[in-house]
Amino acid sequence: MTAVSTCYDDRETELSRALCVEVGLTLGEHPPSRILDVGCGTGKSLAWIRQHLPDAELVGIDPSETAVRSARSLLGPGPGNHVHALPAEDLAGPAAHRFGRFDLILVHLSLALMRDPFAVVRALAGLLAPGGHCYVVDLLRPDAWDGRTVPAALGAQDASEEAYLRDQLAASMSLRELRAVASEVDHQVPDMRSEAYQGGLGGHGPNTPQGRRIWARAPRIGGLLASAGARPGSGAQMNTVAHLVMRRNGGGER
Ligand SMILES: C[S@@+](CC[C@H](N)C(=O)[O-])C[C@H]1O[C@@H](n2cnc3c(N)ncnc32)[C@H](O)[C@@H]1O
Repeated sequence: MTAVSTCYDDRETELSRALCVEVGLTLGEHPPSRILDVGCGTGKSLAWIRQHLPDAELVGIDPSETAVRSARSLLGPGPGNHVHALPAEDLAGPAAHRFGRFDLILVHLSLALMRDPFAVVRALAGLLAPGGHCYVVDLLRPDAWDGRTVPAALGAQDASEEAYLRDQLAASMSLRELRAVASEVDHQVPDMRSEAYQGGLGGHGPNTPQGRRIWARAPRIGGLLASAGARPGSGAQMNTVAHLVMRRNGGGER
């Protein structure tokens, strides 16, 4: 696989990352107190969460030592900050239980980089506390993709970014595949309810009940979208991602 293009990611994924965190924080009834960021990269999501949830326990994992060093330095040494150099696949082993259970697990644009995304998603479901949510945002492979064309909406600026995105698309799931994963997880892990969507805010249009609920519960989203609105193509780009929400029953249902 082509190396991760940090240049592309730094330029193009900031809004998606911030929205992923904001939508993720709306999913439960109460603000989450233990949060895991899988493929945390340089820790920007964790740092954003720390600003708004000063008392939460935050755990990040990423196999890149360089990314982990940056994440540790961005987050600082607080007692609730933990960043580990670890691939997500390790969460499928017995050692994962040392991390405990989480109210919220975020996986932003890293699922397609994993060797066995289904095994990882199933393992993450097992790490959810009752009432907890796992929210995965990932690039969506178009159903009838020709294996070459990189959609203009993704905003690649040169041949190396196109190659990076082509690799990402090839490794990504289509909506149908993601829905099949959601349904497998629900069959294999007790008490799970999972759903996958394309585009929108957390997968929902602004005039749907779910979209309205997210808007009402995440007041910072308006500002994020307003500043992104000034950027050409940001609306079309939102349609290029899939949202998988996995919820573990219990702990007070909505
Ligand atoms: C596109 S970056 C996204 C980083 C971060 N989630 C964000 O939104 O800023 C993808 C990240 O996934 C990480 N990654 C690659 N393979 C992984 C694996 N097997 N398990 C967990 N993370 C992985 C990479 O090291 C990289 O930091």
